[in-house]
Amino acid sequence: MNFDSTEEWKSKIKRVIISEEEIKAELKKAGEMINSIYDGSPILLVSILKGAFIFMADLCREVKVPCEIDFMAAKSYFEGTESSGHVQITMDLKHDISKYHVIIIEDIIDTGRTLNELLKLLKLRNPLSIRVMTLLDKPDRRVVDLKADYSLFTIPDYFVIGYGLDYGEFYRNLPYIAEFNNE
Ligand code: IMP
Ligand code: MG
Repeated sequence: MNFDSTEEWKSKIKRVIISEEEIKAELKKAGEMINSIYDGSPILLVSILKGAFIFMADLCREVKVPCEIDFMAAKSYFEGTESSGHVQITMDLKHDISKYHVIIIEDIIDTGRTLNELLKLLKLRNPLSIRVMTLLDKPDRRVVDLKADYSLFTIPDYFVIGYGLDYGEFYRNLPYIAEFNNE
């Protein structure tokens, strides 16, 4: 992807669909949810790179109980515009998750294939429990039976950018979530 000017880059941001203020308000509630499940045993927040890096950074500051943080990166193979369900871990966790209540922190669940495969892999490592928290959910696009335990926003079938989510690696730095202009 290449832009001739900042104006061209801006022209692809169609409209803001979730503002910074709306994100902040929902982050507080999501943090409270994590606080409420804490029962004295260790919590591990697992962020899936790169899309969830900003969500993780903001969310973990709303968590007011002891928690540890780890990262994992996965490459999903795509067939056309959809993930195929073939997932390769390109960076693995540093923690042995068998001693933790794991909360997966995802940017978006679209077809659900990527997360479905990751969940299967992580369950084989016998965590104390495993939950999924996603910033965005596009349930209309789902092809596998997968539901997040907690979703901050449900959105229609738009391609969205910002707050960590990219189009061709750009736009992750937008502080809000916008619809991408595909024209
Ligand atoms: P799934 O396997 O179809 O659920 O694919 C999920 C992955 O596709 C997400 O983790 C994102 O990286 C990417 N993705 C899906 N929808 C969008 C979108 O609207 N904007 C940016 N990335 C997206
Ligand atoms: Mg992702």
